[in-house]
Parts: sequence; structure tokens; C-alpha cells
Amino acid sequence: MISIKNEKQIKLMEESAEALKAALRAIEENIRPGVSTLYLNEVAENAMKKHGAIPAFKGVPCPYRGGKPYKWAICTSVNDEIIHGIPSSSVILKEGDIVSVDLGTYKNGWASDAGRTYGVGKISPVCEKLIKVAKDAFFVGIDQAVPGNRVGDISNAIQTYVEKQGFSLLREFQGHGIGQDMHEDPGVPNIGKKGTGPRLQAGMALAIEPMICEGKPDVYVKRDLWTIATVDKKMTSYYENTIVITNDGPKILTLD
Ligand code: MF3
Ligand code: CO
Repeated sequence: MISIKNEKQIKLMEESAEALKAALRAIEENIRPGVSTLYLNEVAENAMKKHGAIPAFKGVPCPYRGGKPYKWAICTSVNDEIIHGIPSSSVILKEGDIVSVDLGTYKNGWASDAGRTYGVGKISPVCEKLIKVAKDAFFVGIDQAVPGNRVGDISNAIQTYVEKQGFSLLREFQGHGIGQDMHEDPGVPNIGKKGTGPRLQAGMALAIEPMICEGKPDVYVKRDLWTIATVDKKMTSYYENTIVITNDGPKILTLD
């Protein structure tokens, strides 16, 4: 079931998103060569708590058999890791790396969810392009997030744009509805056909999240049963925001 949020509920989601944005700023201030991904997790968690929110990712069940629930506030996926990388004191960022950071909050019972890929120091031209294409893909997608369109219009716009840029999209993971739960209906795939899927309506909140590969979109899960990485070891990028569909166009909650 797709839930429709009223203005009061959207306000609450915005408050949750304020805490997320504070955490994103704290992460941005601390990304540099030599920092561990666990440290980024700590600064993000502290910022969320300071703003009255709790990390939404803690306790998310592992989708793979035998895996443990997620224990961290953020995901940190480095280079060929695309999503769900686990923060660690032994993963030290170095010049030229790109790190995809994904985070979510709950505040007063309402969720927000966002992600970014950051360069560490000076990065290669292809990494620059990957970061730009993931972000631009989000904006191409959100242009379709208007009442009367369908979910497939968002998916198709993202796919068409990214493939034209010579990159590929992860198929096994997708965006989603969001509200009192971080993951609600509908699913928002990054590939699809125009005019298909559920119809969009004012008051729907969605997390739109293109996940992009330099090479083939074939991925595997690492031994930690969380981290998803590309089989061909090529680079990846990611960009996500929580948005609300309104009659005056989409509103992005998790972007400053
Ligand atoms: N942020 C992811 C999403 O966008 C969810 C991550 S769940 C976690 O759907 F457990 F890995 F953190
Ligand atoms: Co999400």
C-alpha cells in the first residue's frame, strides 16, 4: 500500500531530514585522506543524535541467510563497492578513492534516507564523471516525479540518461517509498519503461537512488554479507534523496 502524507506529516519528515542533513555536513567536513570510514560513522551518528534523531539503518535485517542485522548509522562503500559497505577502523580513505555514503534517520517516528558519493582528494576523470552522472540521474528522475506520471517514468528517465553517458545501473536494488518506515511501497527501480508502474500522486514520499557502474552492473555480496561490489572491480557511484510529490512539483527534503 502506498501511503499519502498530509502537510503535517510532511513537516515531520522535513524535521527528520534536517537531522540527516546535519549528519551529511559533518561527514563532508571530515572526508579526507587518512580518515577511517568508522570515524565518518561516528561523526554522522553524533550529528543525528544532536538533532534529536536516531540512525534508521541500525537493526535493518540482513537480506542474506546467516547475516546479522546492520549495526551502523551509515554505509560507506569505497570504489568498486557500490552500496551497503560497513564502516571500519581498518578502512582508511586515501587520495583518489571515491566513497559512497548512505544514511537514514528516524525522528518523532518519521524517516529520511539519502546518499552521496564523495571524492577523496584528487580523483580520476572517470570518477568525477561517475559522481556527476549519478547526481544528474537523480535530477533527471525527479523531473518525472509529478502527479499523474507513473513510477516507470522516473525509472525510464534515469536509465535512458545513464546509459547514454556510457554507464550502467544496478538492477537488483532500487529506490522506494518512505514515511513512517524507511522502506515503503512503491519500489522505484532505476530501469524501466515509461507509462508503467503505480501512478504518482501528491503526498507520496519517495527515495530515488540511482546506483551507477563504470563497467558491467554485475555485483556480488562480500563475506560480511552486506557489502555489494562489482564483479569487474570497476568504479561505482550513488546518489539518493528523499522527496515528496506535490501539486507544485517535487520537494527535496534531504538536500541543503
Ligand atoms: N539506504 C538504503 C536504501 O536506500 C538502505 C540501507 S539499509 C542498511 O534503501 F541496513 F544497509 F543500512
Ligand atoms: Co533508500
